[in-house]
Amino acid sequence: MSEKLDLPIRPRRNRKTPAIRGLVRETVLTPADLIYPLFLHEDAEDTDIASMPGCQRYGLEGLVREVGEASAVGVKAVVLFPKIEDSLKSPKGEECYNPDGLVPRAIRAIKSAHPEVAVITDVALDPYNSDGHDGIVVADEKSGDLRILNDETVAVLCRQALCHAEAGADIVAPSDMMDGRVGAIREALDEAGHEGVSILSYTAKYASAYYGPFRGALDSAPKAGDKKTYQMDPANWREALREAELDVAEGADMLMVKPAGPYLDIIRAIREEVDLPIAAYQVSGEYLMIKAAAADGWIDEEKVMMESLIGIKRAGADMILTYFAKRAARLLRAE
Ligand code: PBG
Repeated sequence: MSEKLDLPIRPRRNRKTPAIRGLVRETVLTPADLIYPLFLHEDAEDTDIASMPGCQRYGLEGLVREVGEASAVGVKAVVLFPKIEDSLKSPKGEECYNPDGLVPRAIRAIKSAHPEVAVITDVALDPYNSDGHDGIVVADEKSGDLRILNDETVAVLCRQALCHAEAGADIVAPSDMMDGRVGAIREALDEAGHEGVSILSYTAKYASAYYGPFRGALDSAPKAGDKKTYQMDPANWREALREAELDVAEGADMLMVKPAGPYLDIIRAIREEVDLPIAAYQVSGEYLMIKAAAADGWIDEEKVMMESLIGIKRAGADMILTYFAKRAARLLRAE
């Protein structure tokens, strides 16, 4: 018997050299696709974050330097997450719209040093709220059960978004999952003359255990209860499409899916239904699973990092929020 197969179709021909693989590559990741989440605090010093090895919490000077380094390797968008001092936290989170608060000062510092970088801000109450929830919490008089107030929270979120817009934010990103907040924020921004400020809506944000390390970084874990009455059930995908439809109708400019890696089907489902750009957030737990496995020598950190990002882009994301942004951009430039 001849060992030669009678095989006119051989897919391996398209994989035979790097040049040919380059020609047929369907998905390309570039530094311009990446958004760099950065943690900041009131101290002047930068500090390591115990729950997130490889990430730091920056003082304003360190923050501006880090944004500059990211911009130099092609990462032109950052999203800011503040650690707020306990003394400034309150049940209604009023500090979130203080025009001299940490976030507005950081926006102004970044925009004056690196005007080419798009500044995105997180709109939600959890860093400011003494209950550690994204919205205002009340305890039910009879049962004692906690309720997160929707409409009252939306009113505060509008003030927070306005405060960020006034400080110069390019994009506000509501991450709280309250109903109706995209429309309300759009209206508040437009009324104040900020029709140029974009809304990146956390459209399908799941109640995920992958956020654990992030809450450690900001000391923002809920004091009681969980986030399941506002964040989505990981079991659901039709509901994500419903959220997407609402965000489109309310005037969102971009939609987000979060987490990213375990929710690639949701990215794809929204991609197929909606024409708006889609962002995906590779969250703290996804980042740390790669870091931890690599620290023990079980996987190759850089290769798995790049593969995780290309997988998210292939699923249909136009942009990716990732703690690996600066490192990934460096590698992409060296290729
Ligand atoms: C809070 C917020 C969270 C994250 C981003 N914004 C945590 C949460 O919803 O509890 C998580 C990001 C990450 O895990 O990297 N509004």
